[in-house]
Amino acid sequence: MLLDTYGRTATDLRVSLTDRCNLRCTYCMPEEGLSWLAKPELLTDDEIVRLVDIAVTRLGVTEVRFTGGEPLLRPGLVSIVERCAGLRPRPRLSLTTNGIGLERTAVALRAAGLDRVNVSLDTTDPEVFARITRRRRHGDVLRGLAAAKAAGLDPVKVNSVLMPGLNETEAPDLLAWAVEHGYELRFIEQMPLDAQHGWRRSDMVTAGDILESLRTRFTLTPEEERGSAPAERWLVDGGPHRVGVIASVTRPFCRTCDRTRLTADGQVRTCLFAREESDLRGALRSGADDAELAERWRTAMWGKKAGSGLDDPSFVQPQRPMSAIGG
Ligand SMILES: C[S@@+](CC[C@H](N)C(=O)[O-])C[C@H]1O[C@@H](n2cnc3c(N)ncnc32)[C@H](O)[C@@H]1O
Repeated sequence: MLLDTYGRTATDLRVSLTDRCNLRCTYCMPEEGLSWLAKPELLTDDEIVRLVDIAVTRLGVTEVRFTGGEPLLRPGLVSIVERCAGLRPRPRLSLTTNGIGLERTAVALRAAGLDRVNVSLDTTDPEVFARITRRRRHGDVLRGLAAAKAAGLDPVKVNSVLMPGLNETEAPDLLAWAVEHGYELRFIEQMPLDAQHGWRRSDMVTAGDILESLRTRFTLTPEEERGSAPAERWLVDGGPHRVGVIASVTRPFCRTCDRTRLTADGQVRTCLFAREESDLRGALRSGADDAELAERWRTAMWGKKAGSGLDDPSFVQPQRPMSAIGG
């Protein structure tokens, strides 16, 4: 098991498959992109599957989410999913993606054993999409979402980040659109994880702002306790549709956090905001056996801090941005 000194157990593994992305979301990375990891630094497909195997069979991980960067850019994605679906006990498998290319791969991913998908989309307006992402790919994302639903990935969730001056007034439109299409919408508060270090607390659209805006058009009823899930959820107009808000900044959920993270270059992170990483790739490539790798992972997680530190005035943003950690 992956325990820490605050009594939490990590059962939810986020695996970054690449730090590259084909969008340039303003809240994530600069227009010119970043200096990407070189191929030899990335875990190979075999190394990823081996580490997921260790996590599942020796460390009690039950949920595996593939992310990035943009995980659909990883050529071996379908085969990685298939091999992870073959592990016993079988983990639940999900993908966080910007949806570009999902139109072509959704059926193969479902057949390989992917259970569900989260697609990031911040606006219903193609022009606003182009301003936020610096790419004209809104239609690709919509087609990817439709393909995911048609392929039987369930639920299909949509993640949206709202920003002042760009899409802050769009919460009700996004929710109406998500309800119409049967997607489960979750708003994520913008976090200080951008490569440009441009985040300002005073500029954030908060969970409170989002809920206030949604209530101008919908009746929201709080759902049951959220447990370790990061999103607080509400029934929309009495249900069955729901909307979630992940208030990572204003209402952090660190006390119940059940996550562990593996970067595309094989570093274990205890938290998105951690300032330390533990190198599994080096150990793996110098011949460590599964028991040793599992022990390293356990030791890393034992040191997980109580919280993200976001509420502390001395908070310092982690060196790596969200796209390089795996969001
Ligand atoms: C980093 S992306 C990686 C996976 C994939 N490329 C995608 O778009 O979903 C994962 C999620 O992080 C979100 N994200 C990126 N930077 C963020 C930030 N500074 N604050 C909050 N969410 C952020 C994105 O909107 C996306 O929903």
